[in-house]
Amino acid sequence: MHNPQLNAHGELTHLLSIDGLPRDVLVHILDTASSFLEVSDRDVKKVPLLRGKSVFNLFFENSTRTRTTFEIAAKRLSADVINLDVARSSTAKGETLLDTVDNLVSMHADMFVVRHASSGAPYLIADHLRRTGRDDVHVVNAGDGRHAHPTQGLLDMYTIRHFKKDFSGLKVAIVGDILHSRVARSDIQALGALGAAEVRAVGPRTLLPTDIEQMGARVFYDLREGVRDCDVVIMLRLQNERMNGALLPSAKEYFRSYGLTPEVLALARPDAIVMHPGPMNRGVEIDSEVADGPQAVILSQVTFGIAVRMAVMSILAGN
Ligand code: CP
Repeated sequence: MHNPQLNAHGELTHLLSIDGLPRDVLVHILDTASSFLEVSDRDVKKVPLLRGKSVFNLFFENSTRTRTTFEIAAKRLSADVINLDVARSSTAKGETLLDTVDNLVSMHADMFVVRHASSGAPYLIADHLRRTGRDDVHVVNAGDGRHAHPTQGLLDMYTIRHFKKDFSGLKVAIVGDILHSRVARSDIQALGALGAAEVRAVGPRTLLPTDIEQMGARVFYDLREGVRDCDVVIMLRLQNERMNGALLPSAKEYFRSYGLTPEVLALARPDAIVMHPGPMNRGVEIDSEVADGPQAVILSQVTFGIAVRMAVMSILAGN
């Protein structure tokens, strides 16, 4: 089947999802990110790989980490970065997404970084660019609805590889609101492609998608059983903004059953790492003692996110 992210030579032209990306493409991005991590440690943190290119950040949904790290990453690659102020843009006056894109292409955009509440919005833009003969303009999905968050998936893989070296033999638990989580979907796909031994989906029945086992995850409804002997525990936020109706009794009740406390974490391997894509809700899915504890690598994820996003943009631009 045609993969809209790859050109006829199998090269990445857009990053829309982890789904369908060959393992060697993922490894190439992670290896490239390693070299950019060194750039971030230098006094002069810039390389000229995207000099003269214009990167447009189109964030139609809130973001702290993704928007900011994409901006830092693009600037470290020497690109010009334009952050569209969506609330003050003409979309607020009823302009369609594709009309906005056409106008920005007319301003010589080279790359769009898109976050949107609607699953598939970045695909729509990529398809529109292809149909209008603008294959030279690249699209990066920065999170679409509950569908995909590929750069988060990649930075999570970078973090796991950094701390655990090798994916084979790893047991990874993804805990919480998997039903509404684009991060969970991207992580499960990436862990599968990179050969993790076991991926566990842990959460209440109401927050697990029905097709989760087909995605390659083993289901656990009990948190203690789910994290037992795991090497990596990825905690997820309850995405109240995507929930229709009450799927849970209360946040307090949820924390009692699915909150990661030091006692629960003690059931994982002693060298297990704790990850969270952010934003965290302390006291809902994670105890502060764990979030700020020695096993948490949550802030390292953010730092690695810059290098991973530099790698993605640099590869898309043909470097
Ligand atoms: N992980 C993540 O997507 O965080 P933001 O919503 O702050 O970008």
